[in-house]
Amino acid sequence: MRIDVFTQVPHAFGWLTEQKPLATVLGTELELRLFNYRDTTPLRAGQVDDDPYGGGAGMVLRVDVVDAALGAAYGDVRPARIVALTPQGRQLDQELVEELAAEPGLALLSSRFEGFDERIVTHLCTDAVSIGPYVLSGGELPAMVLLDAIARRLPGALADGSGEHESFSAALDGGIEYPHYTRPADYRGWDVPDVLLSGDHGRIERWRHDQSRVRSVR
Ligand SMILES: C[S@@+](CC[C@H](N)C(=O)[O-])C[C@H]1O[C@@H](n2cnc3c(N)ncnc32)[C@H](O)[C@@H]1O
Repeated sequence: MRIDVFTQVPHAFGWLTEQKPLATVLGTELELRLFNYRDTTPLRAGQVDDDPYGGGAGMVLRVDVVDAALGAAYGDVRPARIVALTPQGRQLDQELVEELAAEPGLALLSSRFEGFDERIVTHLCTDAVSIGPYVLSGGELPAMVLLDAIARRLPGALADGSGEHESFSAALDGGIEYPHYTRPADYRGWDVPDVLLSGDHGRIERWRHDQSRVRSVR
């Protein structure tokens, strides 16, 4: 799949692209392109935002600037899903991650300061997505959250099987994963459950299933 991120700070994504699983799928299952609104703005001196009509604090990302960026990237054939990252959007969950990961192409639009001119969201985007009910300073972290969550769902991103029984997966009926333990078996009197040391794979499976169910109804 191809994901295009539109941002004022493309260099912010450098760290993420070096991390697994994104680094694993980059260039094979995933093509990532970063676009800076400033590179295609029709305004002088790299201007991308402006004062809000009606007054008030902060700068607003301009609709003509975003339209120009999309036009330069796609011409008239835009991707089927163009996502505005905004705290006012549909809240991201695993179901939405799976839905977006199944698309052949996505555009993620981030903003800063006071946010988007509303016409960007209503006329240029197909979706508005929030990563949670709180306000961050820019859409770059939300875009990275979405990129990482989608990359995990692409073929070959994870070691075999490691993504199949995770929290919110179909294998766990959308529930929470069971707890994990590793060595040492006893640390300061904090024991690992005996069943996990028993070698009885049937009992371990049943225990894990029960733990997952108990955690999921809390
Ligand atoms: C300071 S926020 C703007 C908040 C906006 N004035 C409001 O009250 O809804 C600047 C930008 O950060 C991004 N952003 C902040 N919080 C976000 C969240 N929870 N989910 C997705 N994007 C977010 C969006 O791109 C947003 O336009």
